[in-house]
Amino acid sequence: MKSPDGFIPRIKSEMTEIVRLNSEHPQEEAIEHAAAIIRSGGLVAFPTETVYGLGADAMNERAIQKIFEAKGRPADNPLIVHVSDRSMLDRVASDVPRKAETLIAKFWPGPLTLVLKRGPEIAPSVSAGLPTVAVRMPRGKVALELIDRAGTPIAAPSANRSGRPSPTSAVHVAADLCGWVEMILDGGATNIGIESTVLDLTGDVPLLLRPGWITREQIADTTGPVGRAEKDEELARSPGTRHRHYSPRARVVLVEQTSSQSLTQLCKDYLRAGVVGFIGYTPIDIADLSFHPVVLENSAARYAHLIYSALRQMDERGASVVVVEGIGESGEGAAVMDRLRRAASEIL
Ligand code: TXA
Ligand code: MG
Repeated sequence: MKSPDGFIPRIKSEMTEIVRLNSEHPQEEAIEHAAAIIRSGGLVAFPTETVYGLGADAMNERAIQKIFEAKGRPADNPLIVHVSDRSMLDRVASDVPRKAETLIAKFWPGPLTLVLKRGPEIAPSVSAGLPTVAVRMPRGKVALELIDRAGTPIAAPSANRSGRPSPTSAVHVAADLCGWVEMILDGGATNIGIESTVLDLTGDVPLLLRPGWITREQIADTTGPVGRAEKDEELARSPGTRHRHYSPRARVVLVEQTSSQSLTQLCKDYLRAGVVGFIGYTPIDIADLSFHPVVLENSAARYAHLIYSALRQMDERGASVVVVEGIGESGEGAAVMDRLRRAASEIL
């Protein structure tokens, strides 16, 4: 049953087991237990190199429905399917074009999701009514061994409540989804920290639907020109990009261009109205118990790695406003700025 705004109501039921794993040598019994849950139609959250995923058997429509319920995810937002080897891809996609093969050879396992024509076995809700399916092979032993043991492709969106920042640790998953997922595999903090690049390969020219750690330039170097989905009809191909995303409860003010002086002044102004968070690379010298700065290095890698947990931290501190200092847009910076713009209520 759907509510008028397209959200599926949540009916909480299960107990959640959280198991700490060695990410280099995951304990076999734990992986087998998690795989058995997936095979029987249950939900397991697991780490990938990007963010934690909320996994279910991609061939089992009832299991996929549980993902939408647990996340409170709009039914028109399709899911990414995860495979553990090249042969599994043939059960997911009905056509794998040459460009896809080239990109797979270069970037899989890794943070590149390809949108391809869907195969007949995939549960309908995975694609949310589209004739396509998004698929990637994640890096990291826990994810790969889980999929391999389950013996089925695993559909997994980021393991956060819909609209919340993506989870980069098992603690974040538990905060959003305890009671909604049967098991959380805790493999420590994720490596990259922001979600995969999504590339549509169903048209004549590859189309970048979501920027990510694999950059547009890297893809263009491999397969030639890459378009960027900007027009409405192109964005409709990636419904996820239409929904507001990645937001903490606090209001995020993204500052794209400024001096350290005006950043300090901005934070001081907001402090008159309540608790203020700051995430950026410029040290801000304000001595006030209501001011919570998180100072990062001015690098896309450090921002990507820490941004979601910093945003969650600001919620825990009760910030009403979080001032975020933007970074340069070159290379991986483009993906970081994409996420920050989506989280922002205001851009200065
Ligand atoms: O790194 C990642 O991609 C993580 C990990 C868990 O793999 N997953 C993730 O999933 O970020 P999610 O559901 O949060 O984002 C999936 C994105 C959405 O923007 C969605 O619209 C798009 O992929 N997508 C999924 N299937 C699609 C399709 N058939 N066509 C176009 N876009 C699709
Ligand atoms: Mg997500």
